[in-house]
Amino acid sequence: MEALLCRKLGDPTLPPNSSEDSALTLSASHPIPELNSPTAVRVRVKATSLNYANYLQILGKYQEKPPLPFIPGSDYSGIVESIGPRVSKFKIGDPVCSVIGLGSFAQFVVADETELFQVPDGCDLVAAGALPVAYGTSHVALVHRAQLSKGQVLLVLGAAGGVGVSAVQIGKVCGAIVIAVARGADKVQFLKSLGVDHVVDFSKGNVTDSVKGFLKARRLKGVDVLYDPVGGKLTKETMKLLNWGAKILVIGFASGEIPVIPANIALVKNWTIHGLYWGSYKIHQPRVLEESLNELLSWLTRGLITIHISHTYNLSEANLAFSVMKDRKVIGKVMIAFDDQKSIRSKM
Ligand SMILES: NC(=O)c1ccc[n+]([C@@H]2O[C@H](COP(=O)([O-])OP(=O)(O)OC[C@H]3O[C@@H](n4cnc5c(N)ncnc54)[C@H](OP(=O)(O)O)[C@@H]3O)[C@@H](O)[C@H]2O)c1
Repeated sequence: MEALLCRKLGDPTLPPNSSEDSALTLSASHPIPELNSPTAVRVRVKATSLNYANYLQILGKYQEKPPLPFIPGSDYSGIVESIGPRVSKFKIGDPVCSVIGLGSFAQFVVADETELFQVPDGCDLVAAGALPVAYGTSHVALVHRAQLSKGQVLLVLGAAGGVGVSAVQIGKVCGAIVIAVARGADKVQFLKSLGVDHVVDFSKGNVTDSVKGFLKARRLKGVDVLYDPVGGKLTKETMKLLNWGAKILVIGFASGEIPVIPANIALVKNWTIHGLYWGSYKIHQPRVLEESLNELLSWLTRGLITIHISHTYNLSEANLAFSVMKDRKVIGKVMIAFDDQKSIRSKM
């Protein structure tokens, strides 16, 4: 099968197999994974999404450092191609999506049936491949942890990125007043099209003044929930906007800088700081993750959320996908898609 391998840590924006410096190698003849238990399912991947963590992992800068070589990639969608003798939830030909620790940048993935989610009729299968990590993270953060409710003020940093767009949309589904921070006119325009209540163009100056102006005009006291996948100076700046009793969701550090949240102010203002590592729910609270993804799939089917894909590439162009992510050109999600569904149907 076709698979993308990381054989050495390094820059994933260099073309695969191009030189000794390439971190990525494209293999056309990687072994197809075998069904490894009676309840295993093999999925022919239709689409897999890029997450910032995939980029960091190939660079060797992510918290989880798998041994080399490894196939990167986490969330994916596809069609059930083969099933073990005791599989009861799925049949060959079913559309599914899921997430794995590693391995979705390949034509086939094997997972236990308990790890797969049926993609409902009416859902775009490619879009479903972008749902688990980004939307799953924001749903667990906002709904399960912060318990965001109607009328609360939600501030989303990095709002036009993968997790950012999902947080904005989930915030609107919860009935929150959503303020988004992003850089550049295209991202601002896109966020306005999602019905965001106030968008701050980070490239045009002071975030605090702009948000304070909006809060004042709407007679709102401050921000109730901060969703922060960026970190650095931006986090520090937004501390001035938080209400008494605010919740801070620490999601990531796309800026490369881990922010300092002053504990003395957290005490005085009764803030709650939630560190959130979505992937670890699979080990510690799998039920939360399962219920969350099922709710998201139902929202996707009902049109309450829509997945915006700004770039799609094939596997041999994975370096271009990583480049647009590195250059902050992605609005929503960037995908790697496999255009070989005809061969699946002919096998059925
Ligand atoms: N905690 C979890 O379980 C979890 C799950 C998923 C993702 N994350 C983390 O969340 C962060 C965002 O992930 P993502 O997949 O949404 O990435 P993404 O699509 O690339 O979005 C990141 C956003 O951050 C902003 N940004 C600000 N400074 C940046 C910089 N120096 N370099 C790059 N981007 C910068 C960019 O917005 P502007 O250009 O508009 O400023 C960009 O849209 C990452 O740190 C990732 O590891 C955490």
